[in-house]
Amino acid sequence: MKTLNVLLLGSGGREAAIAWKLSQSPRMGKFFIAPGNAGTGSFGTNLQLKPTDFDAVYDAVRAHDIDLVVVGNEDPLVEGLREALENKAAADGRELLIVGPGAAGAALEGSKDFAKHFMQKYDIPTARYCTFTAENVEEGDRFLESLQAPYVLKADGLAAGKGVLIIDNLDEAKKSLREMLAGQFGAASAKVVIEEFLSGIECSVFVLTDGKGGYLVLPPAKDYKRVGEGDTGLNTGGMGSVCPPPIADDAFMAKVDERIIRRTLDGLLKEGIDYRGFIFLGLIRCGDEPFVIEYNVRMGDPETESVMPRIASDLLPVLEEIGRGDLHTKHLDIDPRTAVAVMAVSGGYPEAYEKGKPISGNLSPEESIVFHAGTRTGADGTIETAGGRVLAAVSYGDGIEDAAARSYKALEGIRFDGMYYRRDIGKDLLR
Ligand code: AMP
Ligand code: GLY
Repeated sequence: MKTLNVLLLGSGGREAAIAWKLSQSPRMGKFFIAPGNAGTGSFGTNLQLKPTDFDAVYDAVRAHDIDLVVVGNEDPLVEGLREALENKAAADGRELLIVGPGAAGAALEGSKDFAKHFMQKYDIPTARYCTFTAENVEEGDRFLESLQAPYVLKADGLAAGKGVLIIDNLDEAKKSLREMLAGQFGAASAKVVIEEFLSGIECSVFVLTDGKGGYLVLPPAKDYKRVGEGDTGLNTGGMGSVCPPPIADDAFMAKVDERIIRRTLDGLLKEGIDYRGFIFLGLIRCGDEPFVIEYNVRMGDPETESVMPRIASDLLPVLEEIGRGDLHTKHLDIDPRTAVAVMAVSGGYPEAYEKGKPISGNLSPEESIVFHAGTRTGADGTIETAGGRVLAAVSYGDGIEDAAARSYKALEGIRFDGMYYRRDIGKDLLR
């Protein structure tokens, strides 16, 4: 059996979960994670480099004879990592497979205006919208007046998940439009998308596609974005996830497949975009109908932490086929159990928080998997906190309640100064 040397880019809980999964493959040769975290070092070798430093990434490809690069986070893709690696590999006569789209495809996440235009063009259900710049701000006012509260304002470009404002009052929305255009989110908000507010339950659907229309749908998940219990407080990167959420039932997923996935892939083909990688559909279910809130060009975090454990098939050959642009795998075996991930975060997150707190307790509990996110190995070899989202406890269960209870039990056995987690992950789905 031919093995593959793999380089996975990223450092969060998402990459830890992907690393955990890929490291189990009998096809895995040498495995590197860059930059990784204190946990990914047990699945492969961490390399200290920045995924947006394309020269450093390619140096690692050459030094370690990498066959396949899997890109975990969006920034390098939006900045053109695929093109840069392809050019360097071609100049070297090296065959290099990459999971992750080029810059044109990554614009689905990198530009909300591009994504909305694409959805409108290919008849993909999404909220009504218009895009404005400093030149036509008064037209923005008129558009806001034509909508009902609350008002949704989005920075066009990448804003680390913070570029969306939902505002109840019309005058405040007009004021915010001006603040955003004046640079509230830097260059990312030089264009602002204003859209109709959709009310419903959100869920995340993940597609792997080979750029030729071939695709596989991974198990759907629900993310918990607010920091506080009962979905209160500030937005975070995500405080936990449930896979699968009952709202993503077969009838709903059939509509997603027909109206969203197939039309998206068809649109990419028609635009001449050779998209090889993950497409993350951020969906909202309004009544029984799916609408797209956003596209991302990577897996979700913390959704990946509950999705990967449910994929029973070997994922590495599938990623190889995606990288080749020739997906043959027609089916993935999925574990029938529910998986619930609960994220433990640093006190203060998503606002200011301290780093460098030693983590103690059982990080290898029997009934759960603990994925590291913001962790590092301190000078004396102890594991310490290095980010807002520190680790995720994930468990299988016979339903949401059972899986969540195991994850909470695992977290009770772990301590760090200021540790906080939501105790209601999945609860809303039980009603
Ligand atoms: P986005 O970055 O586009 O995913 O937006 C962040 C969050 O804002 C989403 O997860 C939703 O909770 C919310 N949101 C975005 N767009 C809308 C919309 N049109 N209607 C209702 N909520 C929205
Ligand atoms: N969990 C949402 C995201 O990864 O964007």
